[in-house]
Amino acid sequence: MRINETVSSRLKSFGAEVQHDVSLKEKTSLGIGGTTDEVLLRRYESIPDVMRLLADESIPHRFLGGGTNVLIADGKLPYVVLHLPASQPGMRVEGTAAFIDASADLGGMVTFCAKRDLGGMEGLIGVPGSVGGALRMNAGAYGTSIGPHVREIELYRAASGQLETVRGTDIRFDYRHTSFAPDDVMLRVKLELPPKPFKEILAGIKVCNEKRRASQPLNQKSAGCIFKNPPGGSAGRMIDELGLKGHRVGDAMVSDRHANFFVNAGSASCTDMLKLIDDVRERVRGAYGIELENEVIVWQN
Ligand code: EPU
Repeated sequence: MRINETVSSRLKSFGAEVQHDVSLKEKTSLGIGGTTDEVLLRRYESIPDVMRLLADESIPHRFLGGGTNVLIADGKLPYVVLHLPASQPGMRVEGTAAFIDASADLGGMVTFCAKRDLGGMEGLIGVPGSVGGALRMNAGAYGTSIGPHVREIELYRAASGQLETVRGTDIRFDYRHTSFAPDDVMLRVKLELPPKPFKEILAGIKVCNEKRRASQPLNQKSAGCIFKNPPGGSAGRMIDELGLKGHRVGDAMVSDRHANFFVNAGSASCTDMLKLIDDVRERVRGAYGIELENEVIVWQN
């Protein structure tokens, strides 16, 4: 979708920058996605003005975080994409509290806090994506998730059209799910972290990195795990047991390293990846009677 010059210059007056015809292939870890205009939200305070303008002009929009857990349709997209600039995100520590911009890289945040002797998030080190995305889905790995550390979140709440600060205790953080509204936009978070010597945190980080390297296809284009694990079960193990490693539709392929990672092994389209997801879901349903739920967020037009 194209933003015209009049709207572009009004967006500019709110400190937002428009980029035309951006390929979302370049913005997602799967390397899949069509093209559209992108609005970079450089000034948080003016986000309500930007949203009001987009609503007044009937411009549909979606918010893209780190792009590491999303599968986006091919071709020209009928909406614009909003994005927080990721360069030089604000991060600071005060006592045992860390104040982090949502656009910060999750791993970068873990390291930043570790160097200041704040731990508790070692398991999150290799999880790709932004802090905002991690908050939205309560990202986790190796027994850690971000939710329990959250004290306060500053966000844009579409329901009120305003920036709001909510307490961590007012949000439900479940397994790969939270009670945020789908159109809430995370802006900043205050985390409360346990003090721990840097050396100890580093040792924990190393262990997690090694485990991850041993079991996940880190050098291939993926969105991490495609499905959530069903209660008490493992999607990866079931898909593996069905002999589906290496199974493909076009260039969309079940990783031969970890069966719950679906990789883009060349120039996979969204259509290929969706077919592969449906095919595997159906086979798991047939064999185990379990309906796997997507972990990856699908943006169909
Ligand atoms: N397994 C297989 N074959 C496979 C993959 C796994 O047999 O191809 C077996 C493993 O041997 C193990 C069990 O299944 O006995 C569980 O596998 P793993 O330890 O790799 O954990 P997982 O449940 O598949 C979860 C998260 C990962 C996270 C790891 C480590 C989900 C959907 N996945 O994977 O998170 O990194 O634990 O904590 O919860 C993600 O969410 O995108 C993600 C990658």
